[in-house]
Amino acid sequence: MASLLTVPPARPLIAPSVIAGDFAHAAHDASDALAAGADLLHLDVMDGHFVPNLTLGPDYCRCLRRALPAAYLDVHLMVADPARFISPFASAGANHISFHLEAVKPGQIEPLIASIRTLGVAAGLVINPPTPAEALLPFVHLPDLILIMSVNPGFSGQAFIPTALDKARLIKPRLRPDQRLQVDGGVSPANAGAVREAGFDVLVAGSALMSRPSAERPAIISSLKGMAQVR
Ligand code: DX5
Ligand code: ZN
Repeated sequence: MASLLTVPPARPLIAPSVIAGDFAHAAHDASDALAAGADLLHLDVMDGHFVPNLTLGPDYCRCLRRALPAAYLDVHLMVADPARFISPFASAGANHISFHLEAVKPGQIEPLIASIRTLGVAAGLVINPPTPAEALLPFVHLPDLILIMSVNPGFSGQAFIPTALDKARLIKPRLRPDQRLQVDGGVSPANAGAVREAGFDVLVAGSALMSRPSAERPAIISSLKGMAQVR
């Protein structure tokens, strides 16, 4: 069945990172970003082990699902043991779950993707800035989405690391039309043109979007999509 991420988008999809918003008003903020033109919601799950921060768990995802029944929920697992959290997030309403190549043994990647799909959820594979894109090559055909980190994961608000663009240029030609290429970290209207040109078609936007006032979000999203300029 075709879902949001299996159809090549005419413009890149924008995925606001909810951790960059106000946790006390998460559903309101997320709904506001979707009304402003965002396409899906990005949920950053951090366990304090794989990354040096703690964020949210399945209950947060469940609450967001209840508040926004039609939203596409993209869960980014930055955890040391992703297998443990697949089923809890699937039950909590995730549409998509990504896990890090660095967190698993090579032999676990294919079974983990299969176990995500068995639960009716799409699967993503992620690499961190120090991991070469070549490490993805044996697995590039397997997931629904490849996520190339453009910051070292752990916090919103960090500067974009441009080597992500070179990685995209290597990976993009190897993807099928039903596979997406996502970028996460430091994406803003200032670098969105380069990001789109490199081949990314799903752009996570945290602080550039969710830390900005609601009234500015439609123009920021248009700019990220390449539809207009933000001054
Ligand atoms: C970083 C997270 C990102 C982050 C993005 O560890 O995976 O999704 O929230 O925020 P910005 O866009 O501010 O870098
Ligand atoms: Zn993320």
